[in-house]
Amino acid sequence: MLYESKHPLIRHKLALLRDGRTKPKQFRELVRELAIMLGYEAARDLPTRAIEVATPMGTAAGEQLQQTIGLVPILRAGLGMVDGLLEMIPAMQVWHIGLYRDEETLEPVSYYNKLPETPTVDMCLVCDPMLATGGSAIATVEVVKRWGIQKIKFLALIAAPEGIRALQEAHPDVDIHVAAVDSHLNDIGFIVPGLGDAGDRQFGTR
Ligand code: PRP
Repeated sequence: MLYESKHPLIRHKLALLRDGRTKPKQFRELVRELAIMLGYEAARDLPTRAIEVATPMGTAAGEQLQQTIGLVPILRAGLGMVDGLLEMIPAMQVWHIGLYRDEETLEPVSYYNKLPETPTVDMCLVCDPMLATGGSAIATVEVVKRWGIQKIKFLALIAAPEGIRALQEAHPDVDIHVAAVDSHLNDIGFIVPGLGDAGDRQFGTR
């Protein structure tokens, strides 16, 4: 399923994020804040177990997250979403996956993967601010599935329709949560209108 947020706070912050005048410091803050809000929406169906809590006045029925969750940021740009998401669910395990997109072929090239042999989580949230051709997302979801995880959600701030289609075709069982679906990809694989290069804008590398 594709979920596109209609939340006014997300739309407000997204407009600031897109603005070409936004400097890296504010850009990073916005990525972090948007990740929290998008993550909050994506977390709405996480399973819980019933618990009892001793309050100063007695016993209350409570709930506790039931599953161990893995957060899988796609390097580099996905890093900017980690702190916010971890603040929301502090017990998550963070498993980094390094991929860059070959500028000529637009194919993802893997350069970092330290997943242990057997899975240590029940489900994964994969995050990357941009879903362009979908190549990086598809490759990362494949890695996570090969690790043995069945339940996966993908979180992106801005997505192109082409990337959404490709990810849905390759992995129809993965829920996609995005802050916005943009118009299209241009001929060098950038999302239009998008925001430029999310990695460069976060880390001041262009
Ligand atoms: C960008 C972005 C995604 C990928 C999206 O990363 O952060 O990972 O491209 O493109 P795709 O959907 O066509 O695969 P980039 O390759 O620029 O690397 P970086 O995050 O290290 O800057």
